[in-house]
Amino acid sequence: HTMEDKTIQKADSYIASLEEEPCRTKVNKTKINTNPSPQFPYHQQSPESFMKMLEKDAEDRRRRRCANEKKALVLKEKGNQAFAQEDYEAAVKHYTKGLAKLKDMQQLYTNRAQAFYKLGKYREAISDCDWALRCDDRCSKAYVHMGKSYLELKDYKESRSCFTKILEIEPKKEKMVREYLTRVDLEEERELQEVEARREFDQGEAKVTAVPKLLEKLSMSGHIVLYYCGGIQILSEAVQDSTAQTLFRLSNGFRIISDNSTVRSCLEEKTEDKDSRRLLVSVLKLWRAVCDGNSENQKVLLSCPVTTQALVDLLASEEAAVQTECLSLLHVFSRGPHGRRVVIEHLNVSTMVRNIITGVSKPWQQRDSTAVEVLENFAAEDKLCMQLRDVLTYCVTEPFTSVLRTITESSRPVFPSLISAIDRLAQDDIIHHKLAHDSEFWKTLLVALKQCSSRGFKEVLYSLLGLIINLSGGSSPAVQDRAVELCDCCLGLLKDSDGGVITQALGVLSTVLPQSSEAVKRVIQANVVPTLCRMLKRPGQNATKYAMKTLTVCTAASRSAREELLRFDKKLSVLRRLLGSSCDVMVAGNAALCLGHCLELEGVSSRLVDTDVVLQLLRHAAGDAKETAVQQNAAIALGKLCRSEPRYLNRLRELHGFEILHSCVKLIT
Ligand SMILES: *[C@@H]1O[C@H](CO)[C@@H](O)[C@H](O)[C@H]1NC(C)=O
Ligand SMILES: *[C@@H]1O[C@H](CO)[C@@H](O)[C@H](O)[C@H]1NC(C)=O
Ligand SMILES: *[C@@H]1O[C@H](CO)[C@@H](O)[C@H](O)[C@H]1NC(C)=O
Ligand SMILES: *[C@@H]1O[C@H](CO)[C@@H](O)[C@H](O)[C@H]1NC(C)=O
Ligand SMILES: *[C@@H]1O[C@H](CO)[C@@H](O)[C@H](O)[C@H]1NC(C)=O
Repeated sequence: HTMEDKTIQKADSYIASLEEEPCRTKVNKTKINTNPSPQFPYHQQSPESFMKMLEKDAEDRRRRRCANEKKALVLKEKGNQAFAQEDYEAAVKHYTKGLAKLKDMQQLYTNRAQAFYKLGKYREAISDCDWALRCDDRCSKAYVHMGKSYLELKDYKESRSCFTKILEIEPKKEKMVREYLTRVDLEEERELQEVEARREFDQGEAKVTAVPKLLEKLSMSGHIVLYYCGGIQILSEAVQDSTAQTLFRLSNGFRIISDNSTVRSCLEEKTEDKDSRRLLVSVLKLWRAVCDGNSENQKVLLSCPVTTQALVDLLASEEAAVQTECLSLLHVFSRGPHGRRVVIEHLNVSTMVRNIITGVSKPWQQRDSTAVEVLENFAAEDKLCMQLRDVLTYCVTEPFTSVLRTITESSRPVFPSLISAIDRLAQDDIIHHKLAHDSEFWKTLLVALKQCSSRGFKEVLYSLLGLIINLSGGSSPAVQDRAVELCDCCLGLLKDSDGGVITQALGVLSTVLPQSSEAVKRVIQANVVPTLCRMLKRPGQNATKYAMKTLTVCTAASRSAREELLRFDKKLSVLRRLLGSSCDVMVAGNAALCLGHCLELEGVSSRLVDTDVVLQLLRHAAGDAKETAVQQNAAIALGKLCRSEPRYLNRLRELHGFEILHSCVKLIT
């Protein structure tokens, strides 16, 4: 089965599970017959008996309907059984009998439509879906069968509008609808290309006829390998546009090439000789030429098991040309969503990822970004991440740490992309958790960090620190074990000449310090507070955010950090400026919190009497209720001010601050 088939099947079974719902017919079943049968001529009756008669009529109808409903349900069940046994003719018969009992049973129509679809009777299927929609105009299953049937009839417009209707009825099914719509697009594209290719071929245009003629020649037996090889090269050159690509497929090109036993044995790298290696390289080039931008060809190529196995294995080839060609071919697939999905569906992607990462250490890959680009493109696919979860150590962590340990001057250019691919994989929660808790992994990160900083690999350092920031956000024993070393290393980096590196190093301090009191002690001893204050005086949003958080972690943990801060900045002007100007709530919240810590020191409150710190804090305390942490921190700092200095109380009264504070009390406690 192709990927689309599987997706559609999944969608079908999902929709089948909705079958249990009762039919929501629009017909009011107990409706009184407004057109009574002629044996009750109403003019002969009193109004009372006329009404009675009508009611009796309604009651009879209800009973009859009930009996018919039961029979119809039995027939539906029989139909479903036949359907499950793939006897679609019989299923249609049962459903038809059921409909004779009950004309407005939507499930019977949709089920019969599905059976008709299986029998290739698409017009009948569409008509049944029409009826199902008359019973229930929100029946998305009817739109599914209708859309699929129109697609078979190549009525792409109608097909699309059916699938789009599902979106109106059930917006939650967007993902499924997108799958169907993509399938319509691909089918239409394929048909257009085939029509165009045939037309050009019929007109006998030289560039077009070349491909089938070459294939014909190649399919004749008895040539030496090099002849075959040369033929394939000429063929690759002839495949220059989508028409030639389509003709290649229509002329059975994939079979002619892949079925050749010589080609097969070199795909499996069974033979070592030069000629078969050259053949292998030209076959890979040819495939790239025929698959580039052509979804249908991509699908056809990967539906051959020999090919899919070979592509994964060849990524680990020791032969530079082979490995490079193989990566270039995968690169073509990785550029579009369809290609990526075909690969994830058909290739052993965990081994693929392992082989790609391992390959990064090969000398010929070091100036070539193809491998890491392929990896980055695939890393954004959730389905790939899911397949990696269980084999993460073997397929990602091990090869990644191994290449990271051997980073060199010549291999450094590929690392930022490689690290960003790992970062992208870590957006998967399970992968994130596993990496964050992997002690070996952190050990290697630290080694790499030291190496890159001592050798001045700035761009690698920048990405590595970013990865560490992202992975140390939670709490993890593996990070705690390395916290002191990590922070030492980052302190050193605060002296770097590169502003980006400094910012990232601050970021790591801000995520790692909250996890380790020992590391906090260490950085305070190393005089981090004045450094942070200096940083906070400079503009730069990320740096400010990280430095403020780091400073707050320090003042929360240690009295000497508070004293240090006050020595450096007597009136806490840095914190007050951040409270006043910052639009970043995290910065403001931390500034308020840090201010609160400092106010616990003797005599600090009175230093601020000639400032308008009360107004600044009050603004935050009264701020957006969504930012409760900011409100809370500001309210706490205000409370501390007022407790130690009556002058602040007066100011607060002037500002009508008590009402505001009052409403914050519940947040403080
Ligand atoms: C169906 O018709 C009956 C009789 O007119 C009425 O009492 C009842 O409310 C209707 N039910 C619905 C769901 O419209
Ligand atoms: C396969 O290719 C070889 C050349 O390498 C050729 O000799 C052989 O005839 C081809 N076989 C078929 C069935 O095309
Ligand atoms: C992928 O290949 C590896 C190694 O050959 C194998 O252990 C694993 O089972 C394969 N995975 C799948 C999903 O086939
Ligand atoms: C960290 O993760 C976020 C989203 O989770 C991402 O946008 C960002 O690029 C990552 N940062 C780095 C430096 O990798
Ligand atoms: C700030 O950090 C965000 C992500 O954390 C990043 O996308 C952005 O590029 C950074 N800005 C600067 C100037 O470094």
